[in-house]
Amino acid sequence: MLSSNLIGNRVIGFTLAILLAFLTINLNVNPAAAQSKGEVPGQALGLNSDADLWRFIRNGNSGNTQLKDELAAVMIQSEGDNWRAVRNGPVSVYGAIGVIGIIVLLAGFYSWRGRITIDAGPSGKTIERFGTIDRFAHWLMAGSFVILAITGLNLLYGRYTLLPLLGPEAYTAFSIAGKYAHNYLSFAFMAGLALSFFLWVKHNIPSKVDIEWLKAGGGLFKKGVHPPARKFNAGQKIIFWAVMLGGFSISLSGIALLFPFQTAMFAKTFGVLNMIGFDLPTALTALQEQQLNQLWHGIVSLVLMTIIVAHIYIGSVGMEGALDAMNSGKVDRNWAKEHHGLWVKEVDEAAKTAKASPAE
Ligand code: HEM
Repeated sequence: MLSSNLIGNRVIGFTLAILLAFLTINLNVNPAAAQSKGEVPGQALGLNSDADLWRFIRNGNSGNTQLKDELAAVMIQSEGDNWRAVRNGPVSVYGAIGVIGIIVLLAGFYSWRGRITIDAGPSGKTIERFGTIDRFAHWLMAGSFVILAITGLNLLYGRYTLLPLLGPEAYTAFSIAGKYAHNYLSFAFMAGLALSFFLWVKHNIPSKVDIEWLKAGGGLFKKGVHPPARKFNAGQKIIFWAVMLGGFSISLSGIALLFPFQTAMFAKTFGVLNMIGFDLPTALTALQEQQLNQLWHGIVSLVLMTIIVAHIYIGSVGMEGALDAMNSGKVDRNWAKEHHGLWVKEVDEAAKTAKASPAE
C-alpha cells in the first residue's frame, strides 16, 4: 500500500511537472521544440546558451507566462536560500547580541554609577518642558514602537523562545494577534514620528555647544559634571536623528513589505547609488526585492531597538527627574539647570521680556 506521504509527493511532483511544461512552452524554452527549429532555447529572451537559460530560471524569473500570477510561475529562486541563511544567521545573531548586550552594559553602568541624581537636590519649583502636543507625539511614537518591537522580535526569535514556553496553540494565537498589531500600529508609529519631527527638529540642529557636551561625556560618568546644553543636549540630538532617519527607513521598507511587489524600492535606490559610482544590480526580481526589504527592515529595526533601550534607561530609572518631562510636562528647576542650563536661561529671558512688554 502506498503511504500518504508517497502519494503526496507524487501529486506535488505531477503538479510541478505540469507547471514546468507549461512554463517552458510559454518561455519559448522548450528545448526539443526550439532545437528542431534550429533555435537556442530562450533565445527570444536574449538567452544564448543553456547556462544563461538556467541562470535566468534559477534567479526567480518566470519569462513570458500566461499565468495571471507571475510569482506563481517562478520555479526556482536560489537567492531564497541566501536570504534565509542571512536572516536566520548573522541578522538574528548580531541583533540578539546588540539588544541583550546593551541591557547587560546598562546593568553594569547602573551598578557602577547608580541613579544620576539632582546634585543640588530637588528645588520644589518647576519649569514647563513639554506641552500636551509634544507628549502626545512622544507617547504615540514610543507606545507603538514598543509594541512593534515586541511583535517584530517574535517574528525573528519567537519560535526559539516563546513557542517552547507557550505551546503551539497559545503561540499561534499570540503570533496572529501580533501580526495584526504590527501591521496596523505601524501607521501610529509613522504619525508619531512625523509629528515629533516637525515639533522638535528646530531644537536638534547640531551646534558648537554639542562638542563641549560630548567632550565631557555628557557628565554621565562623573558626579557634579554638567556640560552646557540648550533644550536638547548632544546625546539627545543623536537619539533624535537616529530615531528620525532609522524610523523613516524602517517605515519605507515596512510599506514595501505591507504592499508587496509594488514599490521596486531597492531597484530605485540602487539606481540612485549607481549614479554616484556604485555598481549595484537594478534588474531585481520581485522576490529579490522582498527579501532585501525584509533584511533591511530587520537590520535597521534591531539597531534602533538597541539605541532605544539606552534611551528608555536614561529617561526613566537611570536619571532622577527625567521622566517628569514626558509625564506632567514640568521638570524640577534644579534638574533643568543641571542638564539644560542654557535652555533655562533662554526660557527665563523670554519670560522677562514678555513681562517687560505685556501685550496690549
Ligand atoms: C517607553 C519608554 C520611554 C521612556 C520612559 C521615554 C522617556 C523620554 C523622556 C523622559 C524624554 C524627555 C527627555 C528630556 O526631557 O530631555 C524623551 C524624549 C524623547 N524620546 Fe522617549 N521614552 C521612551 C520611549 C521612546 C521611544 C520608543 C522612542 C522612539 C522610538 C522615543 C523617542 C524619543 C525622542 C526622539 C525624544 C527627544 C530626544 C531625546 O530626549 O532623546 N522614546 N523620552
